[in-house]
Amino acid sequence: MGIHAPIFKTQTETKFMKLKSHIRRALVLSLCALGSVWVGHATAQDYPSKPITMVMPYAAGGPGDTITRLFAGSMQKILGQQIVVDNTAGASGSIGTAKVARSKPDGYSLLMIHVSHATNLAMYKNLSYHPVDDFEPIGSATSGPMVIVARTEFPPKDLNEFVAYLKTNQKKVSLAHAGVGSASHLCGLMMMNVLGVQLNEIPYKGTGPALTDLMGGQVDVLCDQTSGTVPSVKNGKIKAYAAAGKNRLSSLPETPAIAEAGVKGFEINISFGLYAPKGTPKPVLEKLTAALQKSVTDPDVIKRLDGMGVSAVSIEQATPAALRAHLKNEIDTLGGLLIKAGVQAN
Ligand code: MLT
Repeated sequence: MGIHAPIFKTQTETKFMKLKSHIRRALVLSLCALGSVWVGHATAQDYPSKPITMVMPYAAGGPGDTITRLFAGSMQKILGQQIVVDNTAGASGSIGTAKVARSKPDGYSLLMIHVSHATNLAMYKNLSYHPVDDFEPIGSATSGPMVIVARTEFPPKDLNEFVAYLKTNQKKVSLAHAGVGSASHLCGLMMMNVLGVQLNEIPYKGTGPALTDLMGGQVDVLCDQTSGTVPSVKNGKIKAYAAAGKNRLSSLPETPAIAEAGVKGFEINISFGLYAPKGTPKPVLEKLTAALQKSVTDPDVIKRLDGMGVSAVSIEQATPAALRAHLKNEIDTLGGLLIKAGVQAN
């Protein structure tokens, strides 16, 4: 017959047992924490150990796609792993953005996006993500102007005739854009606002497909980033009426600035930035920021962007803090502008 343990232990024994279980629990918890840090660190040390997906939330062939492919090509050489561009388009970039927001925060799913990361917060009531809370900023990549272009057969011969034609014909003129809150939509809104006209808006999944219709004559006017339009202007497939701002563009020196027609207060510049899902390990983010900074200072990248009329940002702008500040500024300014204009996507 074995010795039966007394049913009621002394007080000291109970306290000792409690202390022991606390110590064991604390030990287990700290080992888990240590383990997760180690795994995170080990993951980061091996990162990237497989191809990375960079989501461009607009259709292939547009300005965003062009810039994304340029950076994917540059960064994959630096990181030593393939970067696959994924054009998940629709709802002014919010579909592709939501896809990245819900993806695993392991550094293998990234988002390249511009102003619509800010404006979609104001435009879509049922957005399934928050542009700040659900993302880690890696850094800004580019900054570039916009240009007002049209199909080659559009009647006005110059900028002054263009302004007069829009004022006379209004809704008879079709204005293409990449969805409510996109850069091309913002530019179109600003143009209609300063000219006091209402045009017939035609949304697309990106200005790549919009440009195809512009070249085919199916749509009249588009305000787009130079990274999507300069080559088509230069080869005569579309025509440019004005740079969307105060100054002429180095990439299109013969095209007047809209300010030359006496139009004031119309200036728009589009900046693309790179993001990862919230919770991506810090060492992984640091590796991505370092690779982005190498890309924005790469002479070949700078030269190719310059050919599209776009600037690579400075190394100081290619940082999480700079992109976070840029995004906050666009949320506060452009989001408010759209709400004031009574624009709502859903
Ligand atoms: C836009 O905001 O207009 C988009 O950048 C167009 C695009 O990249 O397709």
